[in-house]
Amino acid sequence: MMGRLGTFLSSLGTPRPPRLSADGRVLRFDIHQRIQHVLMFSSLITLVLTGWPLKAAGVGPSSHLAKLLGGVETLGIIHRTAAVIMLLASAYHLFYLGLQAARKQLQFDIVPGLQDLKDLAANIRYYLGLQPEPPKFGRYTYFEKFDYFAVFWGIVVIGGSGLILWFPVKATSFLPSWAVNMAFIAHSDEALLALMYLFIFHLYMVHLRPAIFPMSWVWINGRMSLEEYEHEHGRDFARIPAADLEAAAARARGGAPAPAEAPKEAPKEAPEVAAAPRAVAPPKPIVKEIEADEIVAAARVIVAAADRAQAQGEGDGAEAKPEGDVGQTGTAEGDATRN
Ligand code: HEM
Repeated sequence: MMGRLGTFLSSLGTPRPPRLSADGRVLRFDIHQRIQHVLMFSSLITLVLTGWPLKAAGVGPSSHLAKLLGGVETLGIIHRTAAVIMLLASAYHLFYLGLQAARKQLQFDIVPGLQDLKDLAANIRYYLGLQPEPPKFGRYTYFEKFDYFAVFWGIVVIGGSGLILWFPVKATSFLPSWAVNMAFIAHSDEALLALMYLFIFHLYMVHLRPAIFPMSWVWINGRMSLEEYEHEHGRDFARIPAADLEAAAARARGGAPAPAEAPKEAPKEAPEVAAAPRAVAPPKPIVKEIEADEIVAAARVIVAAADRAQAQGEGDGAEAKPEGDVGQTGTAEGDATRN
């Protein structure tokens, strides 16, 4: 017996290093885990939206919501349907864990340990300003582990009490009658607790924190960028084999070998640098305009000189061109000089 337990425990081994996807990101959740998560939170939101108007159907906003969602009877049907989806999602997860164990792929790094207490203490010290850096977390932080195991507890309490409320006659065939009263209290108290925890703490920690805002995409694509992973799970990031990181970097460069990175970056800059002189080029047309003005001015000078020569050649000057022409010439010369 002890031998078997020992073999089992050693088969668990050290957790495997993070795996990278084809696009060089860390694979965080596979498709089953993502489906389970979507089923879980969509059924939970439905249960919240229908549960509260069920509890207080005649009061304040709950009465409006109850009317909007089709009345108390319809609310009950939607609530029970969503409850079945939530229970099926839980069963799906347990089946998935069993399958992973059968394939010897079950990972135990979600199980809380001494390191989590150390991380918690270090994080509190960091928040109090007693240490400069937050702790580097493993694959799952202590608060992620809490999120995960809180669902097990929550499903047992809320699902168990919900089933008692759903089938009170059957339940009281093997439970004392006060179990129904207790179920009422436990059900809505646990509902309130879950609601507060998930919508305040969970939502903030996984989506709304400044480092992540407005949303983490992991629940949709199951992947996390290497930069984000290093920031959020630094201890686990350090376990990624160097060869995997190098392969990811090479893929990001489009398959080029490492030394090519610098020259590959350079052309990005190059067109901008080359574009700069072109941007300065516009003065050229101005120069051309100046040249045209000069030609016009020179032409005017020549015409004025020719006029003057003609006037002198015509003798006594009585026939000379009017002063205005000379004035114009002077203006043209001045213009040309200024230009
Ligand atoms: C698998 C889980 C669940 C089952 C089987 C279940 C079942 C039920 C049932 C049968 C009722 C009585 C409905 C009626 O009177 O027509 C009820 C009420 C209620 N449920 Fe759920 N439920 C579940 C999960 C949840 C969750 C996740 C929440 C909220 C987070 C929730 C919140 C409530 C509330 C607030 C009430 C009203 C309780 C009262 O009147 O005091 N339930 N539930």
